[in-house]
Amino acid sequence: MAKKIRVTETALRDAHQSLIATRMTTEDMLPILDKLDKIGYYSLECWGGATYDACLRFLNEDPWARLRTIREHCPNTKLQMLFRGQNMLGYRHYADDCVEYLVQRSVANGIDIIRIFDALNDIKNLKTAINAAKRENGKAEAQVAISYTTGPVFTDEYYVEYAKRIADAGADSICIKDMAALLTPTATESLVKAIKEAVDLPVQLHTHYTSGLASMCLLKGVEAGADGIDTAISPLALGTSHAPTESMVAALAGTPYDTGLDIKQLAEIRAYFMTLREKYIKSGLLDQKMLATDAKALIYQVPGGMLSNLLSQLKQAGKEDKLTEVLEEVPRVRKDAGYPPLVTPTSQIVGTQAVFNVITGERYKMCTNEFKGLVAGEYGTTPMPIDPAFQKKICGDKKIITCRPADLLEPELDKLRGEISQWIEQEEDVLSYAQFPKVALDFFEKRRNAEVGINGDKLDKKNMVHPV
Ligand code: CO
Repeated sequence: MAKKIRVTETALRDAHQSLIATRMTTEDMLPILDKLDKIGYYSLECWGGATYDACLRFLNEDPWARLRTIREHCPNTKLQMLFRGQNMLGYRHYADDCVEYLVQRSVANGIDIIRIFDALNDIKNLKTAINAAKRENGKAEAQVAISYTTGPVFTDEYYVEYAKRIADAGADSICIKDMAALLTPTATESLVKAIKEAVDLPVQLHTHYTSGLASMCLLKGVEAGADGIDTAISPLALGTSHAPTESMVAALAGTPYDTGLDIKQLAEIRAYFMTLREKYIKSGLLDQKMLATDAKALIYQVPGGMLSNLLSQLKQAGKEDKLTEVLEEVPRVRKDAGYPPLVTPTSQIVGTQAVFNVITGERYKMCTNEFKGLVAGEYGTTPMPIDPAFQKKICGDKKIITCRPADLLEPELDKLRGEISQWIEQEEDVLSYAQFPKVALDFFEKRRNAEVGINGDKLDKKNMVHPV
């Protein structure tokens, strides 16, 4: 039975987040938006993840203005964002009123699909975001992503159990999110089959090309029943990014899984992004190393970024020779801590603790506050329960949290609004401030200065006067 495979183009979000540290500007996107809209993609992933942060921090852009620009030029294609559950687009847990408001404003500004995930695969951390998306009266698709990882407890059964909980929570679709490129073609086939048998929801596949397996994984996944795939137009594909859109379209063309997309039309999109690629290489933004295949993730079962972090921590301590010991310690720490998937922030927390355990010569002699927090349940429930004796040893008298961490937070939106009343020019500004307080204030100030024609560098900040 033929079915049209949905293609999500990641050029405007994950592809540049993976290759050039999320530095693509709206100006770079603008000339190609109208053409992208005519391709017939299922969706354009274009917002969320690190794009919001990078807009404010590095590009002096209002992320909301970018979203509205893309919406204006792409009226026919669904726009998609990535959302870190209760962490929103930031790095801490937010109160429910903030999470609900971000969902509402994202949809109001043009988002159609909200892909929501939690680093611990704790469904409790996703419910507020899912429910908020559902309240948008069918205007938004709540897609929940499973953070894929490997390890003894991460069997197909584990993922099936989680997929069922996701379906019960009211999600409209499921994404298998392999952010660290750990999937193999065989694992993909068996996982997709198991999830499709257990839940009646569309399944989208998201993997990276780092270890060179992505297009094989996508093909096997589609044959096993996946409904959609994430790809990147070829100039921004491969390496740490995704499988090339054109290659996947060609591989599926004429099969029962045809995508319906036209390779000739995609060639025009490619030509434009090729000019950006050349520009990024020339400026040094795109490092050729990012484009090379590297199967180390598969050998050590840790994400590539985590491996380089471990090495630099060891170098700082003058203990580079301990890398193998640390890599052997990582799975033990992970086991003690209830097997968290290794993604931001858990990859840093577990990695740093493993380094401490090795270089101090005694396990858990020194513990970071973040590690104590993880063990105390401050990030949510870990995939496996943590031994209470271990918890006691690490946390001492620290309170152990078993509820949803955000239940301990008071509503905070009004307070945040009050703190920046002088800067607010649009309702969404409070969300920029909530997520990136310092960076947002700098941005607001630059915005105000530009509006009144003041050169901020010359401003006497203490006396708030501008030199004449
Ligand atoms: Co990704």
